[in-house]
Amino acid sequence: MHNKNNTQKAAHIIANGGLVAFPTETVYGLGANALNAEAVAKIFALKERPSFDPLIVHIDTFDWLEKLTKNTAPEIIPFLEHFMPGPLTVVLEKSDIVPPIVTSGLNTVGIRMPNNDIARELIRLSGCPIAAPSANKFGQLSPSSAAHVRKQLPNVDYILDGGNTQVGIESTIITFNDKECTLLRPGIITPEEITKYLPEGYTFTTKKIESIIAPGLLQSHYSPKKPLFIFDTLPENFPPHSGLILHKTMETPIVERCIFTSHTGNLVEVAAQLFSSLHTMEDDNSVEHIYIQAVAENGLGVAIMDRMKKAAFQYKPAP
Ligand code: TXA
Ligand code: MG
Repeated sequence: MHNKNNTQKAAHIIANGGLVAFPTETVYGLGANALNAEAVAKIFALKERPSFDPLIVHIDTFDWLEKLTKNTAPEIIPFLEHFMPGPLTVVLEKSDIVPPIVTSGLNTVGIRMPNNDIARELIRLSGCPIAAPSANKFGQLSPSSAAHVRKQLPNVDYILDGGNTQVGIESTIITFNDKECTLLRPGIITPEEITKYLPEGYTFTTKKIESIIAPGLLQSHYSPKKPLFIFDTLPENFPPHSGLILHKTMETPIVERCIFTSHTGNLVEVAAQLFSSLHTMEDDNSVEHIYIQAVAENGLGVAIMDRMKKAAFQYKPAP
């Protein structure tokens, strides 16, 4: 488990161009020195991630935001200070110190200040911003524990164990285009909250920007290795070897395994347990297919359904 020496050791690895998986409040990240192109290249190799998918740069102070970006409108700084540290990533124009490999050649960079003491201590001790995608193999389930990381990336230089992550799904991603703020990926910070704190004269939109190619926005992503199906109404019976994931206590048909992400339909609990419940089903040899209950698509439910639909996409029965 976590202690100060482990963070020191991890920081030493980062500072020397190695890779460290570390906890954030959302999911575990696979980190490297963001200013060292060679170190960042190792992330793409270990994750088997296509090079056209840009990475998020993690920082511990606003000084780094200033150094890593340029032409940031001063009026959005108080807005960012309200949400950072926290589960929000903001895409801004990048400065010249950010190597192109980090941003896949885009002239923008995603910046995030995690609300996790271990993560920020790691960044501080490393002495550099840390580029990190989620610590999973490309296209597979995101990790919400050190064990999830170990399963997919056993060859990482070091795993800094900080227990289970709190939020459970990846950060909300936004970008700014003049006075328009655009949602690129839904998360626990909802459009309602963002709109509330936008500077005077700014508008908010969820419409996708066509020019940004980023697999985080692809239809299929975050998938378990077994077929996954989403249902609205609980079927009366399931085929043999079914795993069932529910978000509220209810009478259940007979299945191989049943997991409750929440007993009351509390969406914060559902988000926190979503990937973890899918990992458990993926690891259970007696389960052959997974059925997961849908949630209402408003508020935090939008981000939860986004992850669920992407996880289930490739398993859709042919129309
Ligand atoms: O919560 C999180 O954001 C986690 C933790 C580790 O911080 N990280 C994470 O990273 O989810 P990743 O690589 O799995 O997803 C990052 C996504 C990319 O797929 C892409 O969609 C978007 O962030 N992104 C990064 N930089 C971008 C940029 N310059 N323009 C547009 N999208 C960008
Ligand atoms: Mg990811």
